[in-house]
This record gives sequence, structure tokens and C-alpha cells, in this order.
Amino acid sequence: MTASLATRYAMRVPRYTSYPTAPHFSDAVDADVYRGWLAELEPAQALSLYFHIPFCDTLCWFCGCTTKTVKKYKPVGEFLDLLMQEIDLVAEALPGRFQARHLHWGGGSPTMVKAADWQRLFDCIRARFDLAEDTEIAVEIDPRDMTEDDVSALAAMGVNRASIGVQDFDPVVQKAVNRLQPFEVTRNVVDWLRRYGIDALNMDLMYGLPHQTARGVTAMVEKAVALRPHRVALFGYAHVPWMKPHQKNIDEGALPGVAERWEQYSVGAARLLDFGYVPIGFDHFALPDDGLARASRAHRLRRNFQGYTVDDAPILLGFGASAIGSLPQGHVQNAAPLKDYRRAIEKGGFATVRGTALSAEDRLRREIIERLMTDMAADLDAICARHGASAGAFATELESVARLEADGLVAVDGHRMTITDQGRPFVRLVAAAFDAYLAAGQARHSQTV
Ligand SMILES: C[S@@+](CC[C@H](N)C(=O)[O-])C[C@H]1O[C@@H](n2cnc3c(N)ncnc32)[C@H](O)[C@@H]1O
Ligand code: SF4
Repeated sequence: MTASLATRYAMRVPRYTSYPTAPHFSDAVDADVYRGWLAELEPAQALSLYFHIPFCDTLCWFCGCTTKTVKKYKPVGEFLDLLMQEIDLVAEALPGRFQARHLHWGGGSPTMVKAADWQRLFDCIRARFDLAEDTEIAVEIDPRDMTEDDVSALAAMGVNRASIGVQDFDPVVQKAVNRLQPFEVTRNVVDWLRRYGIDALNMDLMYGLPHQTARGVTAMVEKAVALRPHRVALFGYAHVPWMKPHQKNIDEGALPGVAERWEQYSVGAARLLDFGYVPIGFDHFALPDDGLARASRAHRLRRNFQGYTVDDAPILLGFGASAIGSLPQGHVQNAAPLKDYRRAIEKGGFATVRGTALSAEDRLRREIIERLMTDMAADLDAICARHGASAGAFATELESVARLEADGLVAVDGHRMTITDQGRPFVRLVAAAFDAYLAAGQARHSQTV
């Protein structure tokens, strides 16, 4: 039944890691605007930091991230110099000293960074920001890059959360996507992380990759669960070769179709539930005592550029090429091409090239979309009341949601929408009904399931 819905709704919709979404950022928000926004912040406000390391040593053919392969370490070291200059520049533009509650290192592969450079980076950050005793410091990890010494260096920096890239354990799938990563490599890294006290672990898995089958996804989940990560992400492979030309290396004939993707997601999710994980949003799972699961139960779950999070800081500063930041005034993004990023920072300026200033309507729609994506429910009367608006203004949106209601994906009671269990993987479709920018850019996103 739902497989046919997956086929019917195999349309392309955003993942709503922000609203408005990144394709709708414009160059009207530039370095000067960002400087002005930074100056208006209050040091008492909670703040988080995101650092983007846009390098990997090999390229996975499925990769949708902003990254570049490098054979030598020199460009990485040079980039880190720029990153530290950027940290200094931004910190100087802030009206005082702030405490950072969450640090997230993403990429690319932050695990390309050598131990001595981690020390330099953290010295620079601690010189500019206060870190609390319980500040979360998370790093995305490519296990193929890691030695026990690297793990020990991360632990010495205070890293307390690791997100481990796995994708699939099946060597046939791994070969088809140019990512050879024997199970033992992942298991060793998990063991080292725990040994050095980094025990808040997330694992990234994928479905919809070439040669994956429902049976294979079940085996993949069982292997992952044997390593007992507190959180598991089950991402649907987004095949967008017109945006990521290296994805053309993937044999499209080996890719599962919409119905097969649906089956893979369903069996993967069901197996995770069998093992006691609870669903978080549309693509995450967590053990019931994990922070994400607790935040989800308390309706405090948030969604930001890194995905589902407990981080509710109103300020997220992004550093590094392509990094996105989010301030109370709006979103900002740095230049993605390394040469543009380098030129801007070397000139002593910010690398901001685009963004969006939030209007009152954006803020209202953003809250509706974020509640749908996190709580799987949104009460338009309550949300509109907080924004001084009337839920009656969303009659057109509710009409398009009615079509999804007829298919059992969402229940609508007056102005309250609740995503059904079978609708959970389709929540982006309900959210999309409230996206005022979507119509123009639909072809640019990945498919729903
Ligand atoms: C920056 S990588 C994680 C860290 C490290 N680079 C690694 O791959 O191990 C972020 C994650 O995004 C997911 N991902 C990358 N490309 C994707 C795509 N095209 N569709 C869906 N998920 C994707 C993968 O699960 C990957 O682990
Ligand atoms: S998935 Fe991770 S390791 Fe692979 S190319 Fe992308 S960023 Fe690099």
C-alpha cells in the first residue's frame, strides 16, 4: 500500500534543514550585512559553532557533500590557517565574548586533520570563545582515516560526540560506490572511541545505493546495531548527478527503483525499532535514553543544517568554505570554491557570499515547517498566535495537505496537523505545502523516499 504511495509521491522536495532553504539564499546578504548582524548579537545569547573541513582523501561516488579530494596534507594545513583567521575575524566583529554550547566539525572529513593541528585549532577557539564544562563537541568521522592516536588526540581536545560514516557494510555495495571500509575498520574505531571516553556515538547508514536490497539493508542494520550506537541515521541516497557530476560514476542500472527504495527504508526502520530504537524525525533513530529521544518526547527536538539536533541556540556561526550560519536575523553562507574562500579571508574580510534575511512571514512558516519535521505535528492556531498571525491565512496550504490526508499520511483536525505513522517518511511533503519559495525550484532537490 505505502510502496504505491512512494511511487505516487516520488517528487523532489527539500530536506528542510533550514527555512528558507539554501537554494533560495541570495547575494543581497553579503559580508557587510553579516558584519552588521554580528554586531547586534548579545553575549548572553546561547551560541554554537560549525566548522566545515572540505577535504577527503578519496571520493565516495554517492557523495553529496561539499568536499574535494587531496593527496597531500599541504592544502589542508593551509586551509586550517585560513579557518583560524576567519575565527579571529568573526570573534572580533562580535560585541563581546560568547560561550559556545555546541561545536560541530563536519565536511568532508574532519578526520583529515592531524593531531598537532587539532591542538592549534582548539587553542584558537578557546582564545576566542568560552566553552562550558558540558559543551558538546562533535566530530564527523571517516573511520578509514583514523588511528588509535588520532582518536586519543580528539579525546584530549574534549571531543565528546562522534558521528561515524558507514553507509553499508556490504563489500559489493562499497565497491560500487568507491568506498572500501571493512567491518573491522569501523569496529576498531568504535572500540577506540569508547576506550578514550567518546561514547556518544552516531552512525550514518544509507539505503537506495547501487546493489542494495531489502535483505541487505536488514543485514546492514543488524551489523550496525551490534556496535550499539546511541543514534543511527538512515539516509536515502540522493542521486543528483546534474549537481554532483562524480555521481555519474554510479551505475544507474544498479540503483533500486522507488518501490525498492521504499522497501529498503521500511525494513531498515522496522529492524531498528525491533532493537529498541525510536524514530526521530524522518531519517533518524535513537535509543530511548539518548538526548535526541528525550528531546523528541519533550517536543524540544530541533532541526538545523547538521540535521536533527538538541541544539536550541539561536546563534550558529559557520566557519570554512561553504559553511552556513544561522542568526536571529537570518542565514548566511560562505563561498564554496576554495579559491574564493581563500581570497576573501586573505583580504581580511568575511567569506559570506549569500544568505537570507528572515521576514515575519518566513519566521512563521519556518516554525510550522520545523515543528512538522521534528514533532510530526503542528498546531497552526498556537504557532500563529505566537507570531501575531491568523491560521485562517493558511487555507490554501491546508487544501493541499487534504490530498495527503486522503492518502492517510497526515490527520487534520481543524488547524492541527498530525503526521501518521505511515506518513512519517513523507513528512517533507506536508512541510513543502507551507514553503512559499518552493514552486520555482522543485527539480533541484532529492526524491522523497
Ligand atoms: C560528511 S559525510 C560524514 C563524514 C565522513 N566524510 C564520512 O563519509 O565518513 C556526511 C554523511 O552524509 C551522507 N551522504 C553523503 N552523500 C549523500 C547523498 N548523496 N545522499 C544521502 N546521504 C548522503 C553519508 O551518510 C555521510 O556519512
Ligand atoms: S561521504 Fe564523506 S568520505 Fe565520502 S566523499 Fe563524502 S564527505 Fe568524503
